[in-house]
Amino acid sequence: MSMDELLEYSIRTDVCGGLTRTDLDRDVILAGWVQKRRDHGGLIFLDMRDRSGLAQVVVDPSAPEAFALAEKIRPEYVLSVKGRVGERPAGTVNPALATGEIEVKATAIEILNTSKTPPFEIDDTLDVDENLRLRYRYLDLRRPSVLGNFVTRHKVAAAARTFLNSKGFLDVDTPILTKSTPEGARDFLVPSRVRAGHFYALPQSPQLFKQILMVAGIERYYQLARCFRDEDLRADRQPEYTQIDIEMSYATQENILAMVEDLMAAIFAAVDIEIKTPFPRLSHHEAAARYGTDKPDIRFELIIHDLTEVFASTEFKVFADTIAKGGIIRGLKVCPPEAFTRRDLDDLTQFAVGLGAKGLAWFVVEADGQVRSPIAKFLSESETKAMLAGLKAHADDVIFVVADMAQLVPNILGALRTELAIRLNLAAPRAFDFLWVTDFPLFKWNEEEKRLDSEHHPFTMPKVESLPLLDERPLEAVAQAYDLVLNGVELGSGTLRIHQRALQEKVLKMLGLDAEEMEEKFGFLLEALEYGAPPHGGVAFGLDRLVMLIQGRASIRDVIAFPKTQSATCLMTGAPDEVEPAQLRDLRIKPV
Ligand code: AMO
Ligand code: AMP
Repeated sequence: MSMDELLEYSIRTDVCGGLTRTDLDRDVILAGWVQKRRDHGGLIFLDMRDRSGLAQVVVDPSAPEAFALAEKIRPEYVLSVKGRVGERPAGTVNPALATGEIEVKATAIEILNTSKTPPFEIDDTLDVDENLRLRYRYLDLRRPSVLGNFVTRHKVAAAARTFLNSKGFLDVDTPILTKSTPEGARDFLVPSRVRAGHFYALPQSPQLFKQILMVAGIERYYQLARCFRDEDLRADRQPEYTQIDIEMSYATQENILAMVEDLMAAIFAAVDIEIKTPFPRLSHHEAAARYGTDKPDIRFELIIHDLTEVFASTEFKVFADTIAKGGIIRGLKVCPPEAFTRRDLDDLTQFAVGLGAKGLAWFVVEADGQVRSPIAKFLSESETKAMLAGLKAHADDVIFVVADMAQLVPNILGALRTELAIRLNLAAPRAFDFLWVTDFPLFKWNEEEKRLDSEHHPFTMPKVESLPLLDERPLEAVAQAYDLVLNGVELGSGTLRIHQRALQEKVLKMLGLDAEEMEEKFGFLLEALEYGAPPHGGVAFGLDRLVMLIQGRASIRDVIAFPKTQSATCLMTGAPDEVEPAQLRDLRIKPV
């Protein structure tokens, strides 16, 4: 964004960060905060800051009124400064600063506002406690790196809109006060005053509305939609967040994936990053087998390999017992730049045990092809050979093997894979490696409630080939669903939708809803599907996660202007808060 747009309709003639040698001898008016004041006796220097950057202002006694004021000025005072752009004296040029060759010699200063001493300096290089930053978020946001996150966020959102506008998508708002839209989290509820005892739910996503907009003939919809989910918070989860939410009629899964790849290319181009399309794809099954997760970070290799066959008739008791109990054995290899110490290997073993592993077998491949390992002596030569061959391991590689039940091994090795990448710094910084994960199961088993759950949501269309499985072997049914993964983070998720009432009813019934519940919760959707609902599908991306990854931040809190803490509170406003007894009375609510 050029900063000149800030000058129209403004009291200033220039932005601080925009001044260069081409402005020499111009009379200018700047406005902004005082970053720093340096008093050199006869001369006072003020570093002035606005959204564009910094400029140095000098005040000398030849402008007596300005000089007298400058003596009173403190950091974060808001000023307007009139002056003339001059060259900095030889030897005082600051090459680190865009405006480092010039300074503004003040002729007049107006203090637009004073400031208390801020609780932390507005300085990117300082490591400030996050709670303090959030308590004074408006000061934190003045820090250029924090501000930069929001410039990027704006560019990403604008590029998404521009792209979608150009492809015929209509931006439609959907209600915030609504009925529950299940996406797997708890609802936030809002009591109705007019209908006491009744509640609105805040939308976990616009899912049902966007589908109904397809029935309504919008054909292509998008919205930068606020979503609300009452779930455990993590670095990439907030109770309210923003989706780039998309739905289209008359499109196949391939059509939607192609549209998303072009959308991502347009968004990344807007922040000067070139990405490669089309994105590679893995089925859900392959992702779990090779990477131990459905959101693998493919910036580094480290592929998990099955070794159950290799050890099928081993004498090593731990492995043999696992196989006898129906378990599996898998391993991965890594080539550390420096040999692991015994301590490293013990640490990694502890890491695996912390994840629920019963142990972690490790093998260091020596130059002569022999392996060094506490359990090397229990393995036959042919087993060792087959293991090395299976993993394509060479000298200096280290192999990690986990034997356990099939539901545990992939998770443990998947997490170990990520841990190794962090410890060894394997992920190329500023690399953006997208991956589609497709062919998800339609259902997963909810052991607690002994029933099926949707893997995505209940509105997902099964693959045509899977329709016959619904009655007999529903857990084997495959969905027309796709997740977009970026650097190990689930960036987005979408599906083709069920657009016929009979099939939708059937799936809801499989999820344990009886006719009455179905009618009560989703009657409006089921009814809409009876009036010529076109085939449709869509996708939604976490805008916050996308900006977090582009900015290389570790948490989405950094890219949300007023985020909530881990305990879902806003430290600046104090929300959530108690309310007046009268408000509760109006709502006929009694705290228990
Ligand atoms: P899903 O539930 O996967 O799909 O959400 C879509 C994307 O939203 C982001 N996301 C979050 N970001 C921050 N904080 C959260 N609490 C949070 N929860 C989810 C993720 C996720 O991939 N209606 C479907 C989409 C569809 O089928 O079209 C949906 O909401 O990046
Ligand atoms: P133990 O017999 O428990 O002393 O284990 C002998 C070796 O096998 C140790 O190096 C353990 O870390 C390893 N080990 C034990 N259980 C497992 C397992 N389930 N998977 C992989 N290695 C294991």
